[in-house]
Amino acid sequence: MRQTLQEGTARILVIDDEESVRKGLISILIREGHIAEGASSAEDGLAAAERNRYDLVFLDVRLPGADGIGLIPRIRSKSNPPEVVVLTGYGSVPSAVEAMKRGALDYVEKPFHTDRILSLVRRVLEINYLKEEVDRLRGQVRQLTAPRIVGQSRAILGVLAAVDRVALSPTTTVLVRGESGTGKELVARAIHDRSARHDRPFIAVNCASFTESLLETELFGYEPGSFTGASGEGKEGLLAAAQTGTLFLDEISEMSTVLQAKLLRVLQERSYRKVGGLEDIPLDVRIIASTNRDLERMVKEGLFREDLFYRLAVMPIRVPPLRERREDIPLLAHHFLAQFASQMGKLLRGFSEEAMENLTERHWPGNVRELRNAVEFAAITCPGGEIQEEHLPEVREPGITLSRAEDVLVLPGSDRSIRAMEEILIRRVLEETGWNISRSASILGINRTTLYNKIRLYNLDRDKAEKTSTTPARVSSPGRDVTLPAMPPRLSAPRVP
Ligand SMILES: Nc1ncnc2c1ncn2[C@@H]1O[C@H](COP(=O)(O)OP(=O)(O)OP(=O)(O)O)[C@@H](O)[C@H]1O
Ligand SMILES: [Mg+2]
Repeated sequence: MRQTLQEGTARILVIDDEESVRKGLISILIREGHIAEGASSAEDGLAAAERNRYDLVFLDVRLPGADGIGLIPRIRSKSNPPEVVVLTGYGSVPSAVEAMKRGALDYVEKPFHTDRILSLVRRVLEINYLKEEVDRLRGQVRQLTAPRIVGQSRAILGVLAAVDRVALSPTTTVLVRGESGTGKELVARAIHDRSARHDRPFIAVNCASFTESLLETELFGYEPGSFTGASGEGKEGLLAAAQTGTLFLDEISEMSTVLQAKLLRVLQERSYRKVGGLEDIPLDVRIIASTNRDLERMVKEGLFREDLFYRLAVMPIRVPPLRERREDIPLLAHHFLAQFASQMGKLLRGFSEEAMENLTERHWPGNVRELRNAVEFAAITCPGGEIQEEHLPEVREPGITLSRAEDVLVLPGSDRSIRAMEEILIRRVLEETGWNISRSASILGINRTTLYNKIRLYNLDRDKAEKTSTTPARVSSPGRDVTLPAMPPRLSAPRVP
C-alpha cells in the first residue's frame, strides 16, 4: 500500500495525435517516476485502455476522425476504470464542461504547465488511495459485523470446510440440515458472505410463515390483476429482489407440493414467471434451503417431492446438534457472554467451574439458540463478576422445544392422569435402554425395586412392547398435543439444580 497520499507511481496513457504534445507530456511524467505510454489515434487509445490497467488517461478532445469526448464513457466502462483528464485547446470551455458531464475528472488547457499536470496526477493517486482505503475498510466492517460461526470441534470444522467449498461455486444449490437452533441460518449466511455474491442481496424467507398462495406471490411476484385482490401495479417477488445474490428458503419442508413443483422448475430452468405472467425471467440466484425435518421420510410418505429433494440435496450440509460437539460449549458460552456483557454494559468475567460444568453437561434440545438464551439469562441475573451455577436458568421443562420426531414422546389425548403418563414414560425408557433395569431406574430416578413394582403394576411386558412399539409421531387429539423429548441416550435425565 502507498505510504503517503501523493507519493507513488501512476500508470498513465496519453491519447493525442500531435506528436510534440504527446511526447512532451510523456517525458514530464516519466521524469517524475510514472509509467507513461502514448497513443496517436482514438482507435489505438481505446485498444490500449482495453488491454492495460491505467490510473489516468490524458485525452485530446480533438482527434482526427473521432470525437474525443465520446471516448470518455467507453474508456470508463470497465470495472475499476482510469480517471480521464481531457486536453482542450485554449478557450474551449464548453467542450471541457461537456467532457466532465461525460465522466472526465478535469480538463487541462493547451499549452499546459508542468505543475498543473503533476498536481492532477497527485490528485488521481490520492483518489485511488482513498478508494483502496474504502474497499479495505468495507472488508473489515464486513468481517467484524458478519456473524461468526464459533466452534473448534471436528464437527463444526467439517461444516466450515463444506461452507468454504460450496462458497466457491456461486450457483450450486445447498441444503442445510440440522435440528432446530443448530445454526442453519448462520451457515447459509456464511456461504453467502464467503462467496463472490457477498456484496449482493441475501434474502431469507421462512416457508412456514406463509399460506401456499401468499408464499407463491411473495416469491414470484405477480402481474397486475392476476388474481382477485391483486394490486393494480403488480409486484416484484423475492426472487427478483434476490437477483445476483442468495435466496434462503428456511423450513423448506413446509412448502406445499404444488409450490415444490414450481420451485423445481425454477431450479431446472434457471428462470421463473410471475403469477399471471407469460414472460420467462432469467434468474441468477443461489438457492440455499434448510430443514430440521427428515426429508427422506417425507419423500417416502409422499409429503415432499423426490425430484426436488435430489435437486436440492446436490450439496447437503449437516449442522450437528450441540450435544455432538460439547467441546464447543465453553467457546460458545464465552462468545455469547461477551456479546451480552457489552450490550448490557456489565462487567462479567466468565463462568465459575461449576457453572461451566453445568452448561457442558446439559442436553440442549434447543441447541445453540438455547445455550445463547441461557447465557443471556445468566448475564441478566448475575450482578457482575463471574457467572455462578445459581445464575443459570433451570433446566427447561421438557416438551417446550421439539428437536427431532424421534425425540418425541406422545401422550394420549384422552387419559392425562399422572398414572397414564408415568406408564408411558416408564415404557419409553425401558425401550430405550433395551430393558436394562438398572439404567432405566437411574434415568427415572427411582430404585430398581420400585421400577419392578411399576412394571408389574402397569403390566409392562418386554415381548409385547417390542411387537407393538411404534415410532412416535405427533398425534392430534382434541385439545392440545403433549409431547416430551426422549431421554438423551446414556445421559442422565436433565439436571434440575
Ligand atoms: N456456531 C455458532 N456460533 C455462534 N453463534 C451461533 C452458532 N450457531 C448458532 N448460533 C446462534 O444461535 C442462534 C440460532 O441459530 P440459527 O438461527 O442459525 O439456527 P437454525 O438452525 O436456523 O434454527 P431453526 O431451525 O430454529 O431455524 C442464532 O442466534 C445464531 O447466531
Ligand atoms: Mg433457522
